[in-house]
Amino acid sequence: MQNFEYCNTVNIVFGQGQIKKLSKLIPTGAKIMLAYGGGSIFKNGVYDQVRLALQGFNLIEFGGIEPNPKYETLMKAVDIVKNEKPDFILAVGGGSVLDGVKFIAAAALWEAGDPWNFLTNRKLTVTKAISLGSVLTLPATGSEMNGNSVVTRLSTQEKLAFNANAVLPLFSILDPTVVFSLPEKQVANGVADAFVHVIEQYLTYPVNSPIQDRFAESILLTLIEEGPKVLANRTDYDAAANFMWAATMALNGLIGTGVPQDWATHMIGHELTAFHNIDHARTLAIVLPGIMKVKQESKREKLLQFGQRVWAITSGTEKERIDSTINKTVAFFESFGIPTKLSAYGIGADFIPVVCNRFTDRGIKGIGERGDLTVDQIAEVLTLQL
Ligand code: NZQ
Ligand code: ZN
Repeated sequence: MQNFEYCNTVNIVFGQGQIKKLSKLIPTGAKIMLAYGGGSIFKNGVYDQVRLALQGFNLIEFGGIEPNPKYETLMKAVDIVKNEKPDFILAVGGGSVLDGVKFIAAAALWEAGDPWNFLTNRKLTVTKAISLGSVLTLPATGSEMNGNSVVTRLSTQEKLAFNANAVLPLFSILDPTVVFSLPEKQVANGVADAFVHVIEQYLTYPVNSPIQDRFAESILLTLIEEGPKVLANRTDYDAAANFMWAATMALNGLIGTGVPQDWATHMIGHELTAFHNIDHARTLAIVLPGIMKVKQESKREKLLQFGQRVWAITSGTEKERIDSTINKTVAFFESFGIPTKLSAYGIGADFIPVVCNRFTDRGIKGIGERGDLTVDQIAEVLTLQL
């Protein structure tokens, strides 16, 4: 196992009816900016619960944060924050609202020029942010319990991430009943995104880390078992609760401690969203099978372990078992309506050099757990998925 430090300070408040605890979780007397997305919270009653819980607080609102939150929109909120000076920002929504709020909270206190720089320049670190918390409405990203934020800039068609402890939520309320109002597509996306988060921290090479491996496998198995239950019956509270906790555990840093991490699927996937606005999770379902094929030699041991422990593939030659493991993973995504080929999204071979140029222009020679997935191999991955 590799050396690591692990500290996660997010207070998770989990369960039905927990939104009413908001007034105790937010510092007394704080002026709050309540930030949300396109309006789902008005239809499912979450907004009313939040307002009721925050009676007596001084509140301003910022709505309209889009899926794949846009820098252009978020900067409008930054201006409001600079004028209104809230002490606390409460994100009520899915990963996009949470990520958007992390950006707003950091950008409002950023003094070194355009805040976009802390996304483009890895050497810049965010050390200050307005305090924030969340009421999560969509299990998927893990944003509720991590310091990551992914923002898209429309004018340059870039989708970039930053990470900082300063934007870790003070608390996140996870009430599984929010799942009841999710459209089928968003449940499918949530299961796929969480699944690939685990894979990015697991399907690398062995470093003798049985705790991390078995935690990771338990999350994968839970998503495989509970995902279909949620899709079949949106008001199955137990299934919703297990799905929600699995998605949080998939990207709160725990299973990634002391092990190599990949993230090539996410890096390539972000380009598919930046240029073609494909849902985040769907980009991952397209790219991952290609990565598994192109990197099957260097991921051989973990692919065999994944196949055996998660998909119960125990017979055949190593090559046959690896092929079956990849096929099972593809079938899993497709079983809940997520196509894994670029052609299903109307994308052809002419797009491949566009993605490759992005990596070349940024001076990136290799990505993945060994930094050896070259730009040529990125082209190979996408060609396999045409
Ligand atoms: O905007 P509203 O009206 O709220 O509707 C949203 C949105 O249209 C809707 N929705 C959310 N909760 C709902 C609901 N509809 C009905 N009932 C509810 N309870 O769902 C739609 C999608 O929401 P969004 O927040 O965009 O989805 P998700 O949570 O999948 O977030 C995706 C974003 O997170 C980033 C992605 O790149 C993408 O930008 N990620 C963030 C990560 C992180 N912070 O660690 C890691 C991930 O890998 C990912 O990159
Ligand atoms: Zn993701």
